[in-house]
Order: sequence, then structure tokens, then C-alpha cells
Amino acid sequence: MREKEGLLIQKAHNEVKKYQDKILNDPYRLNYHIMPPVGLLNDPNGLIQYQGVYHVFYQWNPFETAHGAKFWGHYSSKDMVHWQEEPIALAPSEWYEKNGCYSGSAVESDGKLYLFYTGNVKKEDGTRETYQCLAVSSDGIHFEKHGPILRLPERYTAHFRDPKVWKKGDSWYMIVGAQTLDEKGTAVLFTSVDLYHWNELGSIAGSGMNGMDDFGYMWECPDLIHLDGKDILLFSPQGLEPEGYLYNNLFQSGYFIGKLDYETLNFQHGSFTELDRGFDFYAPQTFTDELGRTILYGWMGMTDEKESYQPTISNNWVHALTIPRELELREGKIYQRPVEELKKLRKDKVEVKVDKMEGNHVQFDGVNGLSSELLLDLLKVKAGKFQISFRGEAHLSFDLDKKEISLQRRHLKTGALETRTCKISSVSKLHIFMDHSSLEIFINDGEEVFTARYFPNPKDETIIFHGEAEFRLTKWNLG
Ligand code: FRU
Repeated sequence: MREKEGLLIQKAHNEVKKYQDKILNDPYRLNYHIMPPVGLLNDPNGLIQYQGVYHVFYQWNPFETAHGAKFWGHYSSKDMVHWQEEPIALAPSEWYEKNGCYSGSAVESDGKLYLFYTGNVKKEDGTRETYQCLAVSSDGIHFEKHGPILRLPERYTAHFRDPKVWKKGDSWYMIVGAQTLDEKGTAVLFTSVDLYHWNELGSIAGSGMNGMDDFGYMWECPDLIHLDGKDILLFSPQGLEPEGYLYNNLFQSGYFIGKLDYETLNFQHGSFTELDRGFDFYAPQTFTDELGRTILYGWMGMTDEKESYQPTISNNWVHALTIPRELELREGKIYQRPVEELKKLRKDKVEVKVDKMEGNHVQFDGVNGLSSELLLDLLKVKAGKFQISFRGEAHLSFDLDKKEISLQRRHLKTGALETRTCKISSVSKLHIFMDHSSLEIFINDGEEVFTARYFPNPKDETIIFHGEAEFRLTKWNLG
């Protein structure tokens, strides 16, 4: 290891030690989610199952609860449930990444693990440079930096980052998030035979292509996947204005479904669908595991002024990743379901059959929780609004007449209630993962998902139901 890299890593370790006790005692520390040991976490990176082991890397600033020169932190697991912290994979020690080893992805070739990432360089005059870089490992733990493998092509600004690499046939492909010189978001495709030399094929989607209007000024974290015979471009556009219930967070994450012709680069696709309807979800990435499942992790957070109001900041850490979700294509829509393995976390099962609930403030024996899973199935809402209040601080409501479902929580800065809503024709199943300061709500087997952080009174464990409905309720504590 080079000297500068060693020093940076040592400095990060010191930071972890310094705040360890304070962080572990934070009542908002999560129970079964991936979090930074100290400092700020953002995007999931380098997701892969390599030689049987799951690896999750993540964007990490160990020195502040704010964005900065990112490291790649690293966890590994045999089952996506029990995680082990691994040595820091990448530290921003070299000239081509001095302001951050930014987001990227992982692939395996000839038994080695290859990490592709963006070297971010900020110059004194405020402009930036971007280098797509490679680091290689033979054990999945120690990485040797190879340096830049791709320079910025001419037709894009330096907002050019987040390489996602995959193999199709005998060729490798890379998709990179980009901004055109007239400041429109796009995604650019490259190809390679050896992972070291890359040729530009061109932009596959964006303003003016496939009949599209302007759609944001920058597309971050693109990911091109193949699911059920379709090509799906997942990406995180910046710069969309709110449109009714759509695009209400600062930035969005969603997808186009279509068919990409790798020869002509013609990508015929449908309209943009948001992946999540909640407050805190961004920059997701997928990977295919050895069972052939397409699994997604997202950042359970958002770049936003309000992140500085997250109460965990006073304990020197902020943000987390979502639980892993298996993707499935159903009737032209991505459904997301928590991976099966999470069932291993279940204990203390409570079951209640609710034949007829009428009224407000209904509580069921044993149904409360801080870090719990709730499954409501065979759900029939009879009239008006059906609502579940989590720990007095977040409220999920289904409005039968309006056919809308919404999640409400308190704004982290102002304390005023804020709401996210989406249309849904019916609700027959709710699958809810509560952790000490997060909620992930899967509706109808993942037809819609709401992801949010919330910060209730740590002692409040109440789960309160309102409305007219019948359902079967199963609840587990997760530990
Ligand atoms: C998305 C993002 C990426 C970038 C990384 C930096 O949240 O802005 O585009 O690579 O975060 O941490």
C-alpha cells in the first residue's frame, strides 16, 4: 500500500475509534441495516456475489457527516443478513481521485474482482475533472489500483460518473451517467473486450432521443439490467420539477423499460417510473446473484439541505442503505420484494386475525415494535380511510375512495407534517420493515414501496390502527 493511502486509512480508523461508543449508544442506530461506522454514507457501490460471498461497498466520508472526498467502505456477508466489516477498499489517495473515489460497480473475471469507479478531482478554479478508474483484487478484500481507464469524451461536461459494468455475450459493457454540453442528463454506453480498454458507443437515452423532452440536467448512477426479456435503464435524474404526486423529493430514482439494440444504440422505451414513493431513497444499484436473482440496494437517504437536520448527526454518523430487495417485472412494472433471507431475522411471532375492525386508535396485544416486521395480508378496507400510525411519528393511510396511499412524517427541520402519495387501485397486502429510525413499506408484493427515515421518541413502540377493515396480521421482532 502506498504511504498516502495508508495514512488516510489510519486517519479513518482513528475517527471510528474516537466516536465508537457514542455511535453505538445512539437509540436511532439501526438494527439490521448497513450503516457507516462513523461519518456519512451515501450510495451503495460495487454490489456483487463473488466466490459465494456477498459484497456491499458504499460511498463513505469518515471525517464528517457531510459530503466530501469519499472512500469506499466495505461489508461482506454469506447471507445478506449477517455482515462483517472489511478493511477500507478504496481511499482517495491518488491525483486522479483526490476529491473522492466516487460511485461505481464490480464484476468478476478470471477469478478476480474488478471495481470500476469515478475518480473525482476538484481544481482550484472550482471546475472538476472526472476519471473512470479500475482497482483489482484476487481475494475480494485487498485492492490494487490500476488508475484511470477512461478519460472524459468530448461531448459531455465533467458531470460524468458512476460506471456500471456488465457482460453480455463475449463483450463487456459500461454505462456512465452524464451531462451533455447543453446541460441535459444522459447515459453513455462503452464496450471492452478486456476490461482495461474501452470504446465509446454513444448515448442511449435523454433529451431529444426516442421522442423525449428534457428530463433533468444530470443522470446519476445509471444501471442497465435485463429482466424478463426487457432492457431496463435505472437511473437517478437530477433537476426534475414536482408534478402533482411525482418527483417531490429533491432528486429522483426510477427507470425506463424497453429494448436496447446494442448495434444501432436505439433504445425504444416507455416513460419514467419512480422506484420509490417515500422520502429517503436514492442512487440504487442492482446485481445478479448466483441464484440468478436481481437484487437492489438503495441509499436510504437523499442529498438535501435537510440532511443536516438528521438527529444522528450529533452522534457523528448519518444515513444507511435500504434492505436488499429482489426485483421482478410484472405487467410492465418493477416489483420489489425483501429478499427471502431476511426471514432469518424473525423472532417472537405474534398473529392476530382481525375479522372486523371498526374505529380509531385500535391496538392489538403484542403488536408494537421498534425493530419489527409486520405483514398484513388478506386485507380488505371496507370504507373511507385505513391508517396505521408507527410510533406516533409516521402514518400510512390508504384512501379507498380516492384510491391513494400516502405516508406522512414530520419534516426533519420544521417539524411540520409532510406527505408523499401515490395512486393505487387496491391494497390487499402490506409488508412493513420497521427499524429504530426507518420504515420500508411494500404494498401488494412490492407494486409500490415507500422508504423513509423517521425519528420517533425512542421509547414509543406503539403501532396504532384506524378505520374499517379486515385482515390477518403477523408481526415479528427482528434481531
Ligand atoms: C449520487 C452521487 C454520485 C456520486 C456520488 C458521490 O448520490 O452524487 O453521482 O458518484 O454520489 O458520493
